[in-house]
Amino acid sequence: MDFSNRDVVSIRDFGKEDILHVLDQAGKAMPVARGERRSDVLEGKILANLFFEPSTRTRLSFETAMLRLGGSVIGFADASGTSVAKGETLADTVRMADSYADAIVLRHPMEGAAKLAADFSSKPVINAGDGAGQHPTQTLLDLFTIKMEKGEIADNNIVLVGDLKYGRTVHSLTYALSLFGANITCVAPPTLQMPPEIVSHLKGVGGRFNQSESLESVIPGADVLYVTRIQKERFPDPEEYRKVEHAYRIDNALLANAKRSLIVMHPLPRVNEIAPEVDSGPYARYFKQAFYGVPIRMAILSLILGKGEM
Ligand code: NCD
Repeated sequence: MDFSNRDVVSIRDFGKEDILHVLDQAGKAMPVARGERRSDVLEGKILANLFFEPSTRTRLSFETAMLRLGGSVIGFADASGTSVAKGETLADTVRMADSYADAIVLRHPMEGAAKLAADFSSKPVINAGDGAGQHPTQTLLDLFTIKMEKGEIADNNIVLVGDLKYGRTVHSLTYALSLFGANITCVAPPTLQMPPEIVSHLKGVGGRFNQSESLESVIPGADVLYVTRIQKERFPDPEEYRKVEHAYRIDNALLANAKRSLIVMHPLPRVNEIAPEVDSGPYARYFKQAFYGVPIRMAILSLILGKGEM
């Protein structure tokens, strides 16, 4: 299992053992992530954060992870202040970052952008979201959250709800869960269901999978409720968005029939799909989940750029 200088373009590049190794390393990174212990294993290393789409957690947690390990960060949170505004291509922007930094984190609206960047860069490229494609490091932190909060990933009833068509987090997560033998239920309006190629992959590997439109009916059996935002920016037609923007809302009344041990996750940002009253209840894990992005990204960066030590 050699992670050194490896690209992280798709979660499908990772086997189950690879994933478990990253989660294990993230567990070891916890004291450093919390600021209780110092580490300088990435001293002298530079990370380039290239964000062509909005981000709060992904960009800041990569930055935090790098700084907590003694490394440095360059980059941009908005391409409008860069030469992209003058018409520079993604390939040329990536070539520049490649010559300044030791690794590149890229978020871009075009599906396949991270793969393209990896082809143009000699340095490792980490996909921080490519359009409606994938978001592999989010999946690693989602799996870490399930492991930390539920003990095991296997055999949980995991309900994915919301925009399963355009939501890249649920695409990567479904592929990864298919390695762990979790039971997946997809709840979405018919127009926003999981892409057929992902469903057939899941069925092809013998995954336990079903689809529903009714959230109420699946809540009592759920161990993990993974809520997603309707991805407004990806709808070609604003009218289509308006038809589904209020499709699901998680509130205390809906959760009244849930198992006591249910956990509610969300990659964030949320818009209106989880009522604020849920935040202070026993089920909410989404803010903790966002924190877990720091140890997970420390684990990934130290494995790719260092010796995996923390
Ligand atoms: C997600 C994303 O960018 O795909 N956010 C994140 O990275 N935590 C989810 C979203 O934007 O809805």
